[in-house]
Amino acid sequence: MAVSLKEKVCVVTGAARSIGLAIAEMYCQHEAKVVMIDINPQVEIEAERLAKEGYHVKSYVLDITDREAVLKVFDEIYNEIGPVYALVNNAGIVDQRPFDEITSEQMDLQMRVNVSGTLFCTQGAIRGMKENKAGKIINFSSKSGKTGSALMVHYSAAKGAVIALTQALAFELADHKINVNCLCPGITDATGVWSEVSKGYIHNLQMPRDEVVDRFTAKIPLKRLTAIEDVVEFTHFLTVSGDYCTGQAFNITGGREMH
Ligand SMILES: NC(=O)c1ccc[n+]([C@@H]2O[C@H](COP(=O)([O-])OP(=O)(O)OC[C@H]3O[C@@H](n4cnc5c(N)ncnc54)[C@H](O)[C@@H]3O)[C@@H](O)[C@H]2O)c1
Repeated sequence: MAVSLKEKVCVVTGAARSIGLAIAEMYCQHEAKVVMIDINPQVEIEAERLAKEGYHVKSYVLDITDREAVLKVFDEIYNEIGPVYALVNNAGIVDQRPFDEITSEQMDLQMRVNVSGTLFCTQGAIRGMKENKAGKIINFSSKSGKTGSALMVHYSAAKGAVIALTQALAFELADHKINVNCLCPGITDATGVWSEVSKGYIHNLQMPRDEVVDRFTAKIPLKRLTAIEDVVEFTHFLTVSGDYCTGQAFNITGGREMH
């Protein structure tokens, strides 16, 4: 049966824009106590806008790769807002370049934000979930975490690691009745990641934007890119329901990825 999110603490990272912002807005509409985290101060402006609309929202400007700062923020959330019920580890970064040009710093950064950041935020959120013997952790992998993408070897490796992390945590937290899953969206329209990636393809493949979009859409059985709403809908399902799902990596790719 679907759980009511009224007054439940739902934390979303990377909530300043695109998918993360849309998930935070969805939680607001379900009357949750919403915590929006992002390294980009824009998150404060978005949170203020939502608070003015009457929603219960708090924002933090935070770099999720800074473990000490992350744990401090989650302590504050626990003490001032309440135990976390849902954590959406959406914050992520992408980069695109030929694999022989990937530097040590670029490789480390992909792992630090996409993998370590997810781990640190989960460490912060877990206390309340364990106490309540209930919790939903929703991580963000990618289609590239299952079938790697050319020119994004480091991103693909990091998103593959998010799937393994999700599975291992699902085992470790199952006795606490905490569900840990991850989402694997395909190219999602109107997002920061796609804007970055399409720029990269235009440059690296020497193709105009329309041709790049057509080329990717042609490979998708349902013949359109993923929409932000598709990802929000799945996040909602995993937050309020899906109690018998854990350790899964769900494709939201219009059939582009089937395993
Ligand atoms: N958009 C896509 O096509 C697509 C496809 C598959 C997977 N994904 C994954 O979905 C998630 C969201 O994608 P998006 O396109 O909405 O991204 P986006 O770039 O639009 O937004 C990501 C947000 O994360 C924040 N962020 C980055 N580094 C951070 C850090 N160190 N600490 C805190 N916040 C940080 C950014 O400031 C940004 O607001 C990402 O994990 C991405 O890898 C996206």
